[in-house]
Amino acid sequence: MSQPARFPEGFFWGTATASYQIEGAATEDGRGPSIWDTFSHTPGRIADGSNGDVACDHYHRYAEDVKLIADLGSTHYRFSFAWPRLQPRGEGQLHPAGVAFYDRLIDSLLDAGVQPWVTLYHWDLPQVLEDRGGWPERDTADRFADYAVRVHERFRDRVRFWTTLNEPYCSAFIGYAEGRHAPGRTEPEAALRAAHHLMLGHGKAVRAMREQGPDGQFGVTLNLYPVDAATDDPADLDAARRVDALQNRIFLDPILRGHYPTDLLDDVSVVTDASYVRDGDEATIAAPLDVLGVNYYTRHVVRAGSGPRVPGPDGKPSAFVASADVEKVSRGLPTTEMGWEIDPRGLRDVLVRLHQEYDPIPLFVTENGIACADAPGADGAVADPERVAYLDSHFRAAHSLIEQGVDLRGYFVWTLTDNFEWAWGFSRRFGLIYVDYETQQRIPKDSARYFAEVARTNSLP
Ligand code: NOJ
Repeated sequence: MSQPARFPEGFFWGTATASYQIEGAATEDGRGPSIWDTFSHTPGRIADGSNGDVACDHYHRYAEDVKLIADLGSTHYRFSFAWPRLQPRGEGQLHPAGVAFYDRLIDSLLDAGVQPWVTLYHWDLPQVLEDRGGWPERDTADRFADYAVRVHERFRDRVRFWTTLNEPYCSAFIGYAEGRHAPGRTEPEAALRAAHHLMLGHGKAVRAMREQGPDGQFGVTLNLYPVDAATDDPADLDAARRVDALQNRIFLDPILRGHYPTDLLDDVSVVTDASYVRDGDEATIAAPLDVLGVNYYTRHVVRAGSGPRVPGPDGKPSAFVASADVEKVSRGLPTTEMGWEIDPRGLRDVLVRLHQEYDPIPLFVTENGIACADAPGADGAVADPERVAYLDSHFRAAHSLIEQGVDLRGYFVWTLTDNFEWAWGFSRRFGLIYVDYETQQRIPKDSARYFAEVARTNSLP
């Protein structure tokens, strides 16, 4: 009989969530509005017309949720602090009711034997800061570092793992160039400025937090994709290079190597002179890190398209900003409910690349998961064989990487419970646990039992 695939001793297993997607209680206890409150309340922005006012009501049901987290055999739990709960006006002293909520949550996790892993920014910028210009403004980086250091000071007695940003690509490019996410702006130049100030805020925050508490483990979470050219045609290869630069290396190189990729600066020179990059910024951004979080969902395969190289005079937004002449190619693989091709080898390719091309740093999968059309059966149970198969194939890819010497230390599945999937509202379900939004009943899916077995045995069946 073959041996079960075992993970190294001390491997982290957990699920990940984000404040706006689960908490609800959007106007309670003095929480300030965030850009996602404004955006989701704007007609036409969210596919099902919903918003995060109530979401999974986690703000009130956190104790029940912590029990579910523990039942999953989780060693760790990744969640985000809501900046507008802690600084409703985007600055100044921490708001006591916000602090009290995270005190309760963290204490419950620790009581249940689960270690907290926090994200400081998972997209809910206080609206007051967007009113002053948002991430395209340099001041937002300072506001973020100030927020981070106050939160770290308050919680560092119980929290060891601190990540600054979640997926700055999405904050910058989907929020400020494509406009599909809050704040819904379609300004390519502003998106590049936003990317820079997000990274600057990250670097400043890491330096200040480390000074305050050197025993912490500091990092950032990036959404990385392998980017392949559809053919060997030089035009397609160049399209893949440009997408890789704007999607991956724009963050990896400044953060891990201390400088922007020169080909990227060249590509974007048609929309910006990058004068927002000041002397010393790149050194600040490259603050040494203890961990790198990777969110992995799929691979991009691209070819040169026929569109304009820069957004045309009509200002039509492009997913790739300075790479509008790129088309995504489908390979005909099975897709998730998000339309994303299922490709576990892509996880391997992303992590092997980090291992080979960047200096060694402990890696964590901080998100991976699948949206399925889940529904309870006649017996009330939720069978989700596709999710079980998806997780199993990705866990196996992770296991083989570790055997190849990649320093992967843990794995967080997206996500604990079904929740508010941003522009898709509640129409996409990623949870290991089903949520009936009418009653707020939580029903662990089959995948929850599968995950718990993996986490408890630290091995794949
Ligand atoms: C990435 C984001 O961090 C998370 O908030 C989102 O729900 C998942 N991907 C799925 O799209």
